[in-house]
Amino acid sequence: MALYDLVIRNGHTVTEIEQKKQDVGIKDGKIIALGENLEEGERDIDATNKLILPGGIDAHCHIEQKSSSGIMTADDFYSGSVSAAFGGTTTLLPFAAQHRGQSLREVVDDYMACAKPKSVIDYGFHLIISDASDAIIGQELPAMIEDGITSFKIYMTYDNLKLNDYEILNVLAAARREQALVMVHAENHEVIRWITEKLLDQGLGDPKYHAIAHASLAEKEATHRAITLAELLDTPMLIVHVSSEAALTEIRRAQERGLKIYGETCPQYLFLTIDDLDKDGMDGAMFCCSPPPRNKENQEIIWEGLIDGSFSVFSSDHAPYRYDSSGKLSAGPKPTFDKIANGVPGLEIRMPLLFSEGVQKGRMDIHRFIDVTSSIPAKTYGLYPRKGTIAIGSDADVAIWDPDKEVEITADALHDNMDYTPYEGMVSKGWPITVISRGRIVVEDEELKVERGSGVYLKRERSEFAKPLEKFVPEMDPKKNFNAKLI
Ligand code: URP
Ligand code: ZN
Ligand code: ZN
Repeated sequence: MALYDLVIRNGHTVTEIEQKKQDVGIKDGKIIALGENLEEGERDIDATNKLILPGGIDAHCHIEQKSSSGIMTADDFYSGSVSAAFGGTTTLLPFAAQHRGQSLREVVDDYMACAKPKSVIDYGFHLIISDASDAIIGQELPAMIEDGITSFKIYMTYDNLKLNDYEILNVLAAARREQALVMVHAENHEVIRWITEKLLDQGLGDPKYHAIAHASLAEKEATHRAITLAELLDTPMLIVHVSSEAALTEIRRAQERGLKIYGETCPQYLFLTIDDLDKDGMDGAMFCCSPPPRNKENQEIIWEGLIDGSFSVFSSDHAPYRYDSSGKLSAGPKPTFDKIANGVPGLEIRMPLLFSEGVQKGRMDIHRFIDVTSSIPAKTYGLYPRKGTIAIGSDADVAIWDPDKEVEITADALHDNMDYTPYEGMVSKGWPITVISRGRIVVEDEELKVERGSGVYLKRERSEFAKPLEKFVPEMDPKKNFNAKLI
């Protein structure tokens, strides 16, 4: 019997820190050897002139999830996971979304039941918490964290999801106690509501006005407020899907002051602009997401933030609603912008487009590419070093990239269940040609090679990223403040 189930030979492995010409020996789903001239395995793959990268971790995606207004995403855990795999991603962290009145256990059980028989790659969950009652936060949440769901998202906008500042403080205090990571959708609800009303009063309901209503100042204010609440209770926080220079500036300021504030950005803020929302007829609806893409100058600044380390995570925020009556046009053929489901697809293009526009065009070092698409998400969400790197003992989750392969992105060519892609016609130089998850070849020769349901659930560890600093603002310091025990 061969020592290895699989050997990938003659390629260059690249991790977040180094690049080496070496073979990868895999046994029972794990990497067990790295070195030159490994002995023959049960199966050998020749990776001459190819790059062997850690499989991607998409740490923000919405799969088989109903939006806050009840619209189901076009992708279920089968099509979503297949699409992710074809784009070089081997781990998904979608949301188990609580709608008000639901118990967290029921929510998690429902999502597990959806994912288990369908996902072709490994997956964990973040919770979305929309009901911050004492029973949920005090009793249910700690049990979920103990079960490996060590991060959750809260919203500062959307009628059916948003928490007020008081509720956010309760959530932060619980996260601090439990060392769970809080992810925040930071937009000021009342600002958006106010501008929306004024626009609609003037009959300005076209998709492009979505970007006016979701002003970058609304994002900046909420980001500032969220960070302030996090600082008050010394609780780490990750601001998701950051779109604007104004919000990025708030994050950088907090980081410069030593706070554990992290930022995530997404393809739509690097590759789309506000002009995309101003397409003929209703076509701009295909680009409506929140926060929206901004202008070209802003796009450059988001790029800088990803390159210089201000952002630590690059996720798709895949929120797939088809351009038909099941999705974007569910409120009728010509809805006003406030009735258009928010979100764009991006699972499959997330890594290739960043590789092409970032690494190939010399903007971004390949190690940084791996950091933001795989290694830092793994560290942030309690999966490292099982996932997010190429090392002995790690899961054999790797993608073999052909750096010269050019692929034109079209809705037809992608593997999700969408009828459009916002990135139609863009050409990606560099594409993952063989994708391996726990030693299983998932994608090869442009074909899916595994069965539905062959991915496994990932019980995640608590992350160092979520560990408090023990550095309170002075008046909140329990040691100095008359022994007051506020948290
Ligand atoms: O527009 C977006 N981003 N839709 C998905 C839901 C969310 O808030 O991330
Ligand atoms: Zn969000
Ligand atoms: Zn999202």
